[in-house]
Amino acid sequence: MVRRLAMIQLAEMPHSPPSEAFHDLLKGVAALTGHPVASDIARLYGKGVPADLSIACSHKQIANKQWLVAALAQTLPKPDGPVWVLGAWYGVLGALLLNEPALAIGQVVSLDIDPGCASVAETLNHRHVAAGRFRAVTADMMSVDFARESPMPGLVINTSCEHLDDVPAWIATLPRGLPLVLQSNDYVREPDHRSCVPSLEAFREQVGLSEVLFAGARPSPNYTRFMLIGRR
Ligand SMILES: C[S@@+](CC[C@H](N)C(=O)[O-])C[C@H]1O[C@@H](n2cnc3c(N)ncnc32)[C@H](O)[C@@H]1O
Repeated sequence: MVRRLAMIQLAEMPHSPPSEAFHDLLKGVAALTGHPVASDIARLYGKGVPADLSIACSHKQIANKQWLVAALAQTLPKPDGPVWVLGAWYGVLGALLLNEPALAIGQVVSLDIDPGCASVAETLNHRHVAAGRFRAVTADMMSVDFARESPMPGLVINTSCEHLDDVPAWIATLPRGLPLVLQSNDYVREPDHRSCVPSLEAFREQVGLSEVLFAGARPSPNYTRFMLIGRR
């Protein structure tokens, strides 16, 4: 109940008004790079955003998602159905996936339990929403029954495993053989992290995939991020 009230307050919280100078800077970077996602981030910022958009779009977060996109292009570049991104926050990963020419992804479904995320994610991905290639939903990933989804997902991505109370219990909800991309980390100092793992091997044991196509660790100054691509 307390968490639900907190989430409602979060959804109703007014977004910070944009700084004109910073908006100009973002638009300048978008023009310099010619990157469509940089342009979409600048546009989103201009509409007023939650304060933590800067964390979701930080160079570390972007690098972890670029790592994912590159590994996916090498392993499962053509998912056979929509790609569901769970714990998707503001939809940055969806934007990068749909912008990647090495991937053939028809649609991204961006799911987060926080009701403040969906509208931000859809504003960021406005071009893909208009084309019917992106939608954001508010739900608890623990209660999604993928076996009943039509069409069935071709791939489920969860880069927020460290935020779950019980990762094996979530894995148990998924259909056997479902293609998965999973990320977690060893950043135990962050209070919202409840399922951190100390190593890549511990992550493999935690999720128990039937087939592993990619396993990697990406160290950064404060923590190491782990990624597995395979099948439940
Ligand atoms: C801080 S963010 C993302 C961190 C992660 N390193 C990343 O960028 O992918 C974690 C997100 O997971 C979401 N989340 C946590 N538990 C969830 C659940 N049970 N179902 C859906 N979303 C959840 C939170 O609302 C939050 O937006």
